Amino acid sequence: MGDMCGIVAYVGKPANGASAKPDASAQGTRAVEVVYAGLERLEYRGYDSAGIAVVGGDAVEVRKKSGKIVNLKAELTADPLPVASAGIGHTRWATHGAPTDANAHPHRGGTDGKLALIHNGIIENYAPLRAQLEAGGVEFASQTDSEVAAHLLAKAYAKTGDLTTAMQSIVANLEGAFTLLAVHADQPDRVVGARRNSPLVVGLGEGENYLGSDVAAFIDYTREALELGQDEIVTITPDSVEVITFAGESVTPRQYHVDWDAAAAQKDGYPSFMEKEIHEQPKAVADTLLGRTTPSGELKLDELHIDPALLRSIDKIIVVACGTAAYAGQVARYAIEHWCRIPTEVELAHEFRYRDPVLNSKTLVVSISQSGETMDTLMAVRHAREQGAKCVSICNTRGSTIPRESDAVIYTNAGPEIAVASTKAFLAQITACYLLGLFLAQLRGNKYADEVGRILEDLQAIPAKIQTVLDNAEQVKQIARDMESTQSVLFLGRHVGYPVAMEGALKLKEIAYIHAEGFAAGELKHGPIALIDEGQAVFVIVPSPHGRDSLHSKVVSNIQEVRARGARTLVIAEEGDESVKAYAEEVIYVPKSPSLLAPLLGVVPLQIFSCELATAKGLDVDQPRNLAKSVTVE
Ligand code: AGP
Repeated sequence: MGDMCGIVAYVGKPANGASAKPDASAQGTRAVEVVYAGLERLEYRGYDSAGIAVVGGDAVEVRKKSGKIVNLKAELTADPLPVASAGIGHTRWATHGAPTDANAHPHRGGTDGKLALIHNGIIENYAPLRAQLEAGGVEFASQTDSEVAAHLLAKAYAKTGDLTTAMQSIVANLEGAFTLLAVHADQPDRVVGARRNSPLVVGLGEGENYLGSDVAAFIDYTREALELGQDEIVTITPDSVEVITFAGESVTPRQYHVDWDAAAAQKDGYPSFMEKEIHEQPKAVADTLLGRTTPSGELKLDELHIDPALLRSIDKIIVVACGTAAYAGQVARYAIEHWCRIPTEVELAHEFRYRDPVLNSKTLVVSISQSGETMDTLMAVRHAREQGAKCVSICNTRGSTIPRESDAVIYTNAGPEIAVASTKAFLAQITACYLLGLFLAQLRGNKYADEVGRILEDLQAIPAKIQTVLDNAEQVKQIARDMESTQSVLFLGRHVGYPVAMEGALKLKEIAYIHAEGFAAGELKHGPIALIDEGQAVFVIVPSPHGRDSLHSKVVSNIQEVRARGARTLVIAEEGDESVKAYAEEVIYVPKSPSLLAPLLGVVPLQIFSCELATAKGLDVDQPRNLAKSVTVE
């Protein structure tokens, strides 16, 4: 499941001498009310299904529905859950298994109806675990990786008779990123959770305790929270919270007071979803890489169900997309063409079919779309398929239209992107394109497994480098605030830096409403340099000074050309590149990286710049004027 699913849990103690008729909203027995309200608070995340499980009597009761949360509400009205003191709830942002009722969480484990589990994240090694369980006679009700954990937990519980030790025993065998929560009818006074690389916080009440994927889940009931760390297991009862490591050592978690309002809680305390999503980019890239390499480092793209022989026969690749997604394709094109030695072009989806492109069964059309609903891109895919081309979708939204109408899909696991201006999806799209390029290069023999392995290692190192750029964001924010009244900004780049320049310009246009333009730096002297006059702000993305065909010296001379005409040069350069200082008003350094991967770092200061400038202008960065998150009209 995408790391951004919403999860909620509650455990309470029925008041002494509880009235004969249990009261669904009474302190201690309001599991359904609290969990459902928590799911509503998490509604902003977007999702494709939702469900609740409670301990009612000697069984666990589950209600779950695909679609919006109102569908679950209708289910609860038609077939109410019992009044209960322990419950868990989940809104799903699917990555494994289409958004159906069966694939919705909670998932039952075992066959006695006593255990239910919910899951955030991606269990990388679910396939062999599922095969082992099926060989042992377990029948699965869903296609999800999560149900594997549910059955493993049920088997472990049968041995230990205790949910905490059972949870401890299964997490030792799981690989990937996950938050797991579970209830068992034999232990109705508790909820047990485990987390690795996926968020989980504890809410502290009076005779009641809570768990959530973020504090928005329980902020209406308590503002006292406990922060959980990596590889920890938490057991909440009405009067206790116990935390241990996966190895079993006791942990004392940090307690803190949540002073945000509910709306701020949804943004994790960031001023906007856009800023939050900019900071989620290390995880977006890491989660997009998750589960796509074998233990020996070989690349595996399960979702690419196109006959390998056909993929070997491909003699042209055309990327179709719009806006930021198209710039992701522009960046990736350099790598795909370099690695696969297949002619690769990028065409704006709304132009594609009107140019009467030459397509046939040896053409691979790669569509890139965060929403999977962009009509221009969908129509391009339909046209390509009519012409006999094979279509691969790079998409962030499971079950959306474009992947459904493609021959194969590679999902970006960036989690729901709420802000209209695309940021984390952009980096995840580039990452997914690199995986596709490496897969094709490996399949076609252009690259040996060890070469692919080395590039994958470089990619695995990117999330930490993005984090370094984020940690140094204040410099860029100050530059943005100082430029609040600017009327025009130009962006220059070469090679993979050129689409980065265009993406930086698009960000500024769409959220700060400032005229901005991205240029290929070499194009300046062919006309655009006439735009430069005193004080004109110009961002320049400078490539690494190392590497075989460094374009570094050419870009530095472009900086000198614009500076000589009065431009204010803002340079993005690789750490240690002192040579640019002489020609720049400001230098923003990013960590070293292989030149083809540099856009994953170089674009981040430009995202921060546009977000901060728009914020300084008092604009709504999440919902900019005239724009929609998904353009579902042509
Ligand atoms: C980017 O910030 C914009 N929101 C827009 O250009 C967007 O990338 C484009 O509309 C494509 O959307 P999609 O990825 O959902 O297809």
